[in-house]
Amino acid sequence: MIEIRHLTKIYDDKIVLQNINLDINNGDFVVIMGPSGSGKSTFLSIISGLSRPTEGSVCYDDINISKLPESDVGKFRNSKIGFVFQKFNLMENLTVYENILPPVIIAEKKITKKDIFELLKRFEIDNLSDVKVKRLSGGEQQRVALARALVNDPELLIADEPTANLDYRLKNEVIDTFKKIHYQGKTIIVATHDRVFTEIEGARIINMINGKIAEMV
Ligand SMILES: Nc1ncnc2c1ncn2[C@@H]1O[C@H](COP(=O)(O)OP(=O)(O)OP(=O)(O)O)[C@@H](O)[C@H]1O
Ligand SMILES: [Mg+2]
Repeated sequence: MIEIRHLTKIYDDKIVLQNINLDINNGDFVVIMGPSGSGKSTFLSIISGLSRPTEGSVCYDDINISKLPESDVGKFRNSKIGFVFQKFNLMENLTVYENILPPVIIAEKKITKKDIFELLKRFEIDNLSDVKVKRLSGGEQQRVALARALVNDPELLIADEPTANLDYRLKNEVIDTFKKIHYQGKTIIVATHDRVFTEIEGARIINMINGKIAEMV
């Protein structure tokens, strides 16, 4: 359960998020839509502990991650959250496989090479495992970012525009994967411009406009 209370983010004198209150339950599939610049990415980075709010709190059960020391936030994130960045944040000079390995090492989970290759295969990038990321297309990089986020089998997946660079077929593959993960009981939070996500059964649709949210009911 994530409890978001009075969340406000101000950059210089610009209010980007305004007093957001939201409860996300375990197993929810939350889809955040809204115009460019409305604050979606800022919101995702704060709820995952990648940046801090100006005011307000984000609590996971009884842990307030907005107040945790930096090193503890890192540990918390690595053990619980898979995050897909809008701009991927991959290590360009390393191979696909080398990009996917670090979360496995940090989390000290029992994940085999075979597990990693199955994941790569699911996103049709297994043949690229030895290729440096800088040689990949945008859509290929997107799928590497997704594989990296999922490799630890996180209980919470947070994805920022996860289908933005994909063609129709690969987009469906990603959506199917998200549905499967959701079906397994995982919690998913997605920011997207892609209306296909709003058609997913059971999804909670949240509109963000000018840093404020409204849930569609
Ligand atoms: N580090 C920063 N410093 C100053 N302003 C920022 C910073 N990051 C984001 N902003 C501003 O916050 C606002 C919201 O940005 P954000 O990236 O959260 O929007 P978004 O809804 O994700 O947009 P998009 O759909 O284009 O991805 C924008 O006006 C942006 O310029
Ligand atoms: Mg964004």
